Amino acid sequence: MSATPASRTLAIIKPDATGNALAGKILAHLEEAGFRLRALRMTTLTRSQARAFYAVHRERPFHDSLVAFMTSGPCIPLVLEAPGAVGRLRDAIGATDPAEAAAGTVRRLYAESKERNAVHASDSDENARREIAFFFSRADLLGMGPQ
Ligand code: CMP
Repeated sequence: MSATPASRTLAIIKPDATGNALAGKILAHLEEAGFRLRALRMTTLTRSQARAFYAVHRERPFHDSLVAFMTSGPCIPLVLEAPGAVGRLRDAIGATDPAEAAAGTVRRLYAESKERNAVHASDSDENARREIAFFFSRADLLGMGPQ
């Protein structure tokens, strides 16, 4: 039995995946990988929301293109729960570049390119809390318990 406590992380099914009608397959893949779905919504980001969400990448050469991509269609932010959720989700989705992602990972199966890479996942517990709060209100998260 694992001693790792359940925790939460944020995933986003990105506009390439929703546009290619892959949202259901990706949700099923994540549930089969052992995550409980705790909150979900569909939204089309404004430029200012995408710039704020990816502020950490604002100096990177791909930032403008990333913002254009992330505002190009609907995305689906999800709160996922599992023991060691942050690391487990990063394992399940694979490397940023689908060409480098391990066999059987979400990005290897469903992503188009390093930018159009089907899903986002938080990279630390602290960023998971920040990113969950970016997309979900306290009312959305009511009943889920502390964290
Ligand atoms: P994500 O996990 O959402 O975090 C930042 C995003 O920037 C990443 O997934 C990709 O969509 C995008 N990205 C990262 N590196 C590159 C790159 N070298 N070229 C284009 N897009 C990138």
